Amino acid sequence: MSGAAGMRLDRYVSQAAGLSRAAVRTLLRRGAVSVDGIVVKSADLHVPAGGRVELEGAVLALPGLRYFMLNKPLDVVCSTSDGGHLTVLGLLDEPRRELLHPVGRLDRDTTGLVLLTDDGQWSHGITAPRRHRDKVYCATLAEALAASAVERFAAGLMLKGEDRATLPARLEILAPTVARVTVQEGRYHQVKRMFAALGNHVTALHREAIGGVVLDPALAPGEYRALREDEVEALR
Ligand code: URA
Repeated sequence: MSGAAGMRLDRYVSQAAGLSRAAVRTLLRRGAVSVDGIVVKSADLHVPAGGRVELEGAVLALPGLRYFMLNKPLDVVCSTSDGGHLTVLGLLDEPRRELLHPVGRLDRDTTGLVLLTDDGQWSHGITAPRRHRDKVYCATLAEALAASAVERFAAGLMLKGEDRATLPARLEILAPTVARVTVQEGRYHQVKRMFAALGNHVTALHREAIGGVVLDPALAPGEYRALREDEVEALR
Protein backbone atom coordinates (compact mmCIF):
# COMPACT_ATOMS: atom_id res chain seq x y z
CA MET A 1 0.00 0.00 0.00
CA SER A 2 1.35 3.43 -0.86
CA GLY A 3 0.16 4.78 2.53
CA ALA A 4 1.86 8.13 2.79
CA ALA A 5 1.23 9.38 -0.76
CA GLY A 6 -0.23 12.86 -0.57
CA MET A 7 -0.79 12.85 3.18
CA ARG A 8 -0.93 16.28 4.85
CA LEU A 9 2.27 17.12 6.65
CA ASP A 10 0.69 17.69 10.08
CA ARG A 11 -1.06 14.34 9.90
CA TYR A 12 2.09 12.58 8.74
CA VAL A 13 4.19 13.96 11.60
CA SER A 14 1.42 13.36 14.12
CA GLN A 15 1.10 9.68 13.11
CA ALA A 16 4.81 9.04 12.74
CA ALA A 17 5.88 10.76 15.97
CA GLY A 18 2.76 9.98 18.04
CA LEU A 19 2.08 13.67 18.73
CA SER A 20 -1.15 15.65 18.72
CA ARG A 21 -1.85 17.81 15.67
CA ALA A 22 -1.62 20.90 17.91
CA ALA A 23 1.84 19.88 19.11
CA VAL A 24 2.89 19.26 15.53
CA ARG A 25 1.73 22.70 14.42
CA THR A 26 3.85 24.28 17.17
CA LEU A 27 6.87 22.31 15.95
CA LEU A 28 6.14 23.34 12.37
CA ARG A 29 6.02 27.03 13.34
CA ARG A 30 9.38 26.60 15.06
CA GLY A 31 10.91 25.26 11.84
CA ALA A 32 11.58 21.83 13.36
CA VAL A 33 10.22 19.89 10.38
CA SER A 34 11.78 19.46 6.96
CA VAL A 35 10.61 17.66 3.84
CA ASP A 36 13.30 16.49 1.44
CA GLY A 37 15.79 18.74 3.20
CA ILE A 38 13.70 21.93 3.09
CA VAL A 39 12.17 23.39 6.24
CA VAL A 40 8.38 23.50 5.87
CA LYS A 41 6.10 25.47 8.17
CA SER A 42 2.73 24.89 6.53
CA ALA A 43 0.66 22.07 8.02
CA ASP A 44 -1.31 21.48 4.83
CA LEU A 45 1.64 20.69 2.58
CA HIS A 46 1.06 17.29 0.97
CA VAL A 47 4.01 15.01 1.55
CA PRO A 48 4.97 13.46 -1.81
CA ALA A 49 5.10 9.65 -2.05
CA GLY A 50 8.48 8.56 -0.75
CA GLY A 51 9.15 12.05 0.69
CA ARG A 52 11.80 12.22 3.44
CA VAL A 53 10.28 13.93 6.48
CA GLU A 54 12.57 14.91 9.34
CA LEU A 55 11.72 16.19 12.81
CA GLU A 56 14.62 17.98 14.48
CA GLY A 57 16.99 16.12 12.15
CA ALA A 58 15.58 12.62 12.74
CA VAL A 59 13.89 10.86 9.81
CA LEU A 60 10.27 9.95 10.57
CA ALA A 61 8.65 6.72 9.43
CA LEU A 62 4.90 6.20 9.37
CA PRO A 63 3.71 3.19 11.34
CA GLY A 64 2.02 0.82 8.92
CA LEU A 65 -1.73 1.14 9.06
CA ARG A 66 -3.56 -2.14 9.50
CA TYR A 67 -6.92 -3.31 8.19
CA PHE A 68 -8.67 -6.58 9.05
CA MET A 69 -11.99 -8.34 8.61
CA LEU A 70 -13.30 -10.62 11.35
CA ASN A 71 -16.16 -13.09 11.44
CA LYS A 72 -17.60 -12.10 14.82
CA PRO A 73 -19.03 -15.01 16.79
CA LEU A 74 -21.98 -14.77 19.18
CA ASP A 75 -21.32 -13.38 22.66
CA VAL A 76 -18.35 -11.24 21.71
CA VAL A 77 -18.68 -7.49 22.19
CA CYS A 78 -17.66 -4.83 19.68
CA SER A 79 -15.84 -2.49 22.00
CA THR A 80 -12.27 -1.89 23.03
CA SER A 81 -12.81 -2.33 26.79
CA ASP A 82 -14.03 -5.69 28.06
CA GLY A 83 -16.56 -5.07 30.87
CA GLY A 84 -16.24 -8.80 31.61
CA HIS A 85 -16.91 -10.04 28.07
CA LEU A 86 -14.62 -11.20 25.32
CA THR A 87 -14.12 -8.34 22.85
CA VAL A 88 -13.43 -8.42 19.14
CA LEU A 89 -9.90 -7.15 19.87
CA GLY A 90 -9.35 -10.16 22.12
CA LEU A 91 -9.75 -12.37 19.03
CA LEU A 92 -6.81 -10.72 17.25
CA ASP A 93 -3.35 -12.16 17.63
CA GLU A 94 -1.51 -8.99 16.57
CA PRO A 95 1.23 -6.84 18.09
CA ARG A 96 0.02 -3.55 19.62
CA ARG A 97 -3.57 -4.67 19.17
CA GLU A 98 -4.70 -2.00 21.65
CA LEU A 99 -4.13 0.50 18.82
CA LEU A 100 -6.85 -1.19 16.75
CA HIS A 101 -10.56 -0.46 16.96
CA PRO A 102 -13.71 -1.97 15.43
CA VAL A 103 -15.33 0.09 12.67
CA GLY A 104 -18.85 0.60 14.02
CA ARG A 105 -20.57 -1.96 16.19
CA LEU A 106 -22.49 -5.17 16.05
CA ASP A 107 -24.67 -6.25 18.96
CA ARG A 108 -23.33 -9.00 21.19
CA ASP A 109 -25.84 -11.45 19.72
CA THR A 110 -25.17 -10.41 16.09
CA THR A 111 -22.58 -12.38 14.10
CA GLY A 112 -20.59 -11.71 10.96
CA LEU A 113 -18.48 -9.05 9.33
CA VAL A 114 -16.59 -6.62 11.56
CA LEU A 115 -13.79 -4.44 10.20
CA LEU A 116 -10.90 -3.49 12.47
CA THR A 117 -8.19 -0.92 11.90
CA ASP A 118 -5.84 1.61 13.45
CA ASP A 119 -6.65 4.11 10.70
CA GLY A 120 -9.14 6.48 12.33
CA GLN A 121 -9.69 8.49 9.19
CA TRP A 122 -10.58 5.38 7.20
CA SER A 123 -13.02 4.12 9.81
CA HIS A 124 -14.64 7.53 10.15
CA GLY A 125 -15.17 7.57 6.38
CA ILE A 126 -17.09 4.30 6.68
CA THR A 127 -19.23 5.11 9.70
CA ALA A 128 -19.95 8.82 9.04
CA PRO A 129 -23.76 8.98 8.67
CA ARG A 130 -23.60 11.13 5.52
CA ARG A 131 -21.67 8.40 3.66
CA HIS A 132 -24.70 6.07 3.48
CA ARG A 133 -22.60 2.94 3.03
CA ASP A 134 -24.68 -0.16 2.29
CA LYS A 135 -24.59 -2.74 5.06
CA VAL A 136 -26.03 -6.15 4.24
CA TYR A 137 -27.51 -8.44 6.90
CA CYS A 138 -29.20 -11.81 6.92
CA ALA A 139 -32.02 -11.83 9.47
CA THR A 140 -33.91 -14.80 10.86
CA LEU A 141 -37.35 -13.90 12.18
CA ALA A 142 -39.82 -15.27 14.69
CA GLU A 143 -42.83 -14.80 12.36
CA ALA A 144 -43.27 -15.33 8.63
CA LEU A 145 -42.81 -12.17 6.60
CA ALA A 146 -45.63 -10.68 4.53
CA ALA A 147 -44.73 -9.67 0.97
CA SER A 148 -45.78 -6.10 1.88
CA ALA A 149 -42.72 -5.87 4.16
CA VAL A 150 -40.60 -5.23 1.06
CA GLU A 151 -42.45 -1.99 0.25
CA ARG A 152 -42.47 -0.91 3.88
CA PHE A 153 -38.69 -1.24 4.12
CA ALA A 154 -38.33 0.61 0.81
CA ALA A 155 -40.64 3.43 1.95
CA GLY A 156 -38.84 3.95 5.28
CA LEU A 157 -40.08 3.00 8.73
CA MET A 158 -40.66 5.02 11.88
CA LEU A 159 -38.66 3.41 14.69
CA LYS A 160 -39.96 3.54 18.23
CA GLY A 161 -38.82 6.71 20.01
CA GLU A 162 -37.59 8.43 16.84
CA ASP A 163 -39.12 11.21 14.77
CA ARG A 164 -37.38 10.61 11.44
CA ALA A 165 -38.17 7.65 9.19
CA THR A 166 -35.37 5.30 8.16
CA LEU A 167 -33.81 5.77 4.72
CA PRO A 168 -35.06 3.39 2.02
CA ALA A 169 -33.84 -0.14 2.73
CA ARG A 170 -33.88 -3.22 0.51
CA LEU A 171 -35.58 -6.36 1.78
CA GLU A 172 -35.27 -9.68 -0.04
CA ILE A 173 -37.40 -12.47 1.39
CA LEU A 174 -35.31 -15.65 1.07
CA ALA A 175 -37.65 -17.98 3.00
CA PRO A 176 -40.80 -17.31 5.08
CA THR A 177 -38.71 -16.37 8.15
CA VAL A 178 -35.37 -15.44 6.54
CA ALA A 179 -34.55 -12.17 4.76
CA ARG A 180 -31.59 -10.28 3.42
CA VAL A 181 -31.68 -6.60 4.41
CA THR A 182 -29.58 -3.77 3.02
CA VAL A 183 -29.53 -0.57 5.06
CA GLN A 184 -27.63 2.66 4.44
CA GLU A 185 -27.61 3.87 8.03
CA GLY A 186 -26.28 2.57 11.31
CA ARG A 187 -28.85 3.56 13.90
CA TYR A 188 -28.87 1.86 17.28
CA HIS A 189 -30.17 -1.74 16.89
CA GLN A 190 -31.44 -0.60 13.52
CA VAL A 191 -32.29 -3.88 11.83
CA LYS A 192 -33.94 -5.39 14.90
CA ARG A 193 -36.00 -2.22 15.40
CA MET A 194 -37.06 -2.13 11.74
CA PHE A 195 -38.52 -5.62 12.05
CA ALA A 196 -40.02 -4.69 15.42
CA ALA A 197 -41.79 -1.80 13.63
CA LEU A 198 -43.53 -4.48 11.52
CA GLY A 199 -44.53 -6.39 14.66
CA ASN A 200 -41.90 -9.11 14.03
CA HIS A 201 -38.85 -10.16 16.05
CA VAL A 202 -35.29 -10.94 14.94
CA THR A 203 -34.03 -14.22 16.38
CA ALA A 204 -30.64 -14.21 14.61
CA LEU A 205 -28.74 -11.53 12.73
CA HIS A 206 -25.59 -11.90 10.64
CA ARG A 207 -23.72 -9.16 8.74
CA GLU A 208 -22.60 -10.25 5.30
CA ALA A 209 -21.10 -7.11 3.75
CA ILE A 210 -20.22 -3.45 4.20
CA GLY A 211 -19.98 -1.13 1.20
CA GLY A 212 -19.28 -3.95 -1.24
CA VAL A 213 -16.72 -5.72 0.98
CA VAL A 214 -18.10 -9.21 1.63
CA LEU A 215 -17.29 -11.42 4.61
CA ASP A 216 -14.81 -14.05 3.36
CA PRO A 217 -16.61 -17.43 3.42
CA ALA A 218 -13.29 -19.08 4.37
CA LEU A 219 -13.42 -17.37 7.80
CA ALA A 220 -15.02 -19.52 10.48
CA PRO A 221 -16.61 -17.66 13.45
CA GLY A 222 -13.79 -16.05 15.45
CA GLU A 223 -11.33 -16.05 12.52
CA TYR A 224 -9.96 -12.97 10.79
CA ARG A 225 -7.66 -11.95 7.98
CA ALA A 226 -5.99 -8.80 6.69
CA LEU A 227 -8.01 -6.91 4.10
CA ARG A 228 -6.68 -6.89 0.56
CA GLU A 229 -5.65 -3.53 -0.81
CA ASP A 230 -8.66 -3.41 -3.17
CA GLU A 231 -10.96 -3.95 -0.17
CA VAL A 232 -9.31 -1.15 1.80
CA GLU A 233 -9.57 1.18 -1.19
CA ALA A 234 -13.20 0.24 -1.91
CA LEU A 235 -14.13 1.65 1.50
CA ARG A 236 -11.98 4.79 1.37
N1 URA B 1 -28.82 -3.84 13.49
C1 URA B 1 -29.07 -4.41 14.67
O1 URA B 1 -30.18 -4.40 15.14
N2 URA B 1 -28.03 -4.98 15.32
C2 URA B 1 -26.79 -5.04 14.82
O2 URA B 1 -25.89 -5.60 15.45
C3 URA B 1 -26.54 -4.44 13.58
C4 URA B 1 -27.59 -3.84 12.93
